[in-house]
Amino acid sequence: MIIQPKIRGFICTTAHPEGCAANVREQIAYVKSQPAPANPPKKVLVIGASTGYGLASRIVPAFGGGAATIGVFFEKPGQENKTGSAGWYNSVAFEEAAKEAGLYAKSFNGDAFSNEMKQQVIDTIKADLGQVDCIIYSLASPRRTDPNTGEVYKSVLKPIGEPYSQKNLNTDKGEVDSVTIEPASEEEIANTIKVMGGEDWEMWINALADAGVLAEGATTVAYSYIGPDLTWKIYTEGTIGMAKKDVEASAARLNEKFGAGTAYVSVNKALVTQASSAIPVVPLYISLLYQVMKQKGNHEGCIEQITRLFNDHLATETGPAQLDEAGRIRIDDWEMEADVQAAVAELWEKVTTENLTEISDFTSYQSEFLRLFGFGLEGVDYAAETNPDLALPSAS
Ligand code: NAI
Repeated sequence: MIIQPKIRGFICTTAHPEGCAANVREQIAYVKSQPAPANPPKKVLVIGASTGYGLASRIVPAFGGGAATIGVFFEKPGQENKTGSAGWYNSVAFEEAAKEAGLYAKSFNGDAFSNEMKQQVIDTIKADLGQVDCIIYSLASPRRTDPNTGEVYKSVLKPIGEPYSQKNLNTDKGEVDSVTIEPASEEEIANTIKVMGGEDWEMWINALADAGVLAEGATTVAYSYIGPDLTWKIYTEGTIGMAKKDVEASAARLNEKFGAGTAYVSVNKALVTQASSAIPVVPLYISLLYQVMKQKGNHEGCIEQITRLFNDHLATETGPAQLDEAGRIRIDDWEMEADVQAAVAELWEKVTTENLTEISDFTSYQSEFLRLFGFGLEGVDYAAETNPDLALPSAS
């Protein structure tokens, strides 16, 4: 079939298999062009491995350090006349490249929150790898079914305490408008913590340890975001921020149980991903941030961020280069530099629909959003017939 983008609000309901493969190959080529990490993990489990930060977290240890990887994700396979999701095609492309490079790679498509998924992964580690020495937790999900009670929890992206009004970008129309979001109820706050907090991360690490498949000295990392005060009311001080605080509490508990240096929270840069496109206000901030960081010459995407995470923090001889006062890894350091934030804040005051493409990098925002789904990549013939029905090599 001929596959074109079909955008509905902040998602694209189609994905291009060859475009996604080209995207994965570009990321692999970047990693291969970088210095190899000094002390890379050898057996890596990535939970949320198919898109965004998680995909990059699978590519970096595999192609930068020769690691065997197991990836867990929730994606839609393609059918004869229907495209699958981008994460499905990314994972097919990743596995094909890993196979070609002689690297072990297995993937599990299903609900990472479930007990069954944890058991399947544990059984596979036992059978194929023995143990894992690095676990990256990169889930972004709007809902979670509690594996023990069957109750379904939904997360919300809302402020806490009072309504929040701010400039906003309608990414579909390219218009700067404003948005007012009513505060979350106590129940919505608790539910968001249940979905995006640290409980499931801890359940994974405890399950791996109980099954004897967590290597001595293994490291685990979960991702977080802080950002500037412009977005605090909706992010850091909002429902998602409360969930991220809970992730930090989980890291502290894991360190207490398994020893200091076992669990880290890494605070990453704001980037265009499927998850971040859904957050109000953030796409406008990202469009301005890209403009400023590109001008400064230190803009990074997921793959550059995660390469730095491994090379400077996770895969060194001596552990993370530096932690902040709360014990977190900060690869958002360049985003948070005072001159970058001052420049973004100045542009924030000025930005309107009329000057959007001139003073922000909305053009890149749009093209990066399309690239997430495999559209707009060089060397891909989008007018050609494409087979959407691809299988994961490890499934055969
Ligand atoms: P994403 O939407 O690109 O990736 C989410 C991943 O989770 C995908 O692999 C998806 O298949 C998987 N997933 C979702 N529900 C699942 C389920 N029930 N079972 C198994 N897999 C499931 O998101 P992104 O942006 O890469 O986010 C990953 C983490 O990074 C999140 O914790 C997010 O808060 C954090 N982060 C993101 C930033 C950004 O600007 N995008 C900035 C800083 C941190």
